Amino acid sequence: MAETLKSVRGMNDLLPPDSAKWNYFESRCRELFARYGYQEIRTPILESTDLFSRGIGEATDIVEKEMYTFPDKNERSMTMRPEGTASCVRAYIQHSMHRKEPVTRWFYSGPMFRYEKMQTGRYRQFYQIGVEAYGVAEATVEAEQVAMLYELYSSVGISDLTVLINSVGSGEDRGRYREALTAFAALFKAELCGNCQRRLETNPLRVLDCKVKTCKALLKDSPSILDSLSEASTAHFEQAQEALTSMGVPFTVDARMVRGLDYYTGTVFEIVASTESLGTQSTIVAGGRYDGLVESLGGPSVPAVGFALGVERAILSLDGDPEEYRAKPDVFVVSRGEAAAVAKLGLAAELRAAGLCVEFEHRATSIKSQFKRADKLGSHFVITVGDEELAAETVKLKDMSERTEEEVPRTEVPRLLDRRVKRMTEGGEF
Ligand code: HAM
Repeated sequence: MAETLKSVRGMNDLLPPDSAKWNYFESRCRELFARYGYQEIRTPILESTDLFSRGIGEATDIVEKEMYTFPDKNERSMTMRPEGTASCVRAYIQHSMHRKEPVTRWFYSGPMFRYEKMQTGRYRQFYQIGVEAYGVAEATVEAEQVAMLYELYSSVGISDLTVLINSVGSGEDRGRYREALTAFAALFKAELCGNCQRRLETNPLRVLDCKVKTCKALLKDSPSILDSLSEASTAHFEQAQEALTSMGVPFTVDARMVRGLDYYTGTVFEIVASTESLGTQSTIVAGGRYDGLVESLGGPSVPAVGFALGVERAILSLDGDPEEYRAKPDVFVVSRGEAAAVAKLGLAAELRAAGLCVEFEHRATSIKSQFKRADKLGSHFVITVGDEELAAETVKLKDMSERTEEEVPRTEVPRLLDRRVKRMTEGGEF
């Protein structure tokens, strides 16, 4: 027997009815982001490795150990994108967006790839939906993005959320903070894990992300980055908080949150959901300001801010049976006899042309099993066509929720159904 093939570990198939839940969530994002003035961008999945090593930072976990990198046939180093921001910045520069418009607002969605240790909510191929805004230095734009997210999650019923914000300041601020943190950690350097000891040399802020219990305990009273901020950085962070308050978004300042990517400057934020199904992977969104990245990747000096949300984590937080998200047919056409089986094709085509969602059975099965199928699919109406109805130029029309059936003229069916389906839709039934 041939060996069965399986998908690559950490990379999952998405099947119905779960895909209906995904579609629902994705379309909510699209609608909402459009309302806030964000337009879609699609960038390639494969980019040259340099983009990510320069963009995300050589000394980050992603670049050091999580990227899917390989040489192409010309021995150029390629990487499957681990995130979307670096690609957006590349596209922003490549298409000279700053010359075309003072402010650019993009959103994107698609698979990202990271060679990570797998667990619930953490995969090697995962989907992000992200937003990036270029050209606005005011902190109101990051506050607006957080407010947009708050609206998004509340509207889909994920309301037990904590918004965490912090500021990682400017390059100079972080330089000051690195010194303060290194001096503090020097007191117990030998007790830190090997990774943290190395990080103190290469990228000290990363020690704050360490998950090792002893490191966490030792670093518990480390100095706050907020004490290293300049006056301008402090004022910016205050503006962000004021805007959030004004927009009615509750938040908590978490001075230990420094984020795992190196490009951040100023405000950073995360949204944490308290859904049990997420396990330890409860951060459903993360983002922040990255004012230096466009310039450091060879573009003009343009301020930028954005976020990415994890789609799998959003779906895990969404209550409800995936079946509830599946579109139900408006009508299922049942036939009795060979002539009716042909006639139903014409009727179904006519109803579909009228914009209705129509299903029928292709296989020659009994009336009973056709009705069973209609019931299983949750069809709102069932039309039955048989020899008698064909001769009388009528059909039987059954309302599946009311359980009532009537005989109506065949020519009346599209008009009648259209009216009834519309009434149901407007009544908020589906
Ligand atoms: P990130 O924190 O690396 O930021 O990822 C953002 C979100 O993607 C996470 O909060 C999480 O919900 C989801 N995520 C990350 N890794 C995985 C994984 N292995 N499995 C499942 N979900 C995951 C970024 O990617 C930045 N580009 C965000 C950003 C945009 N900052 C500015 N603009």
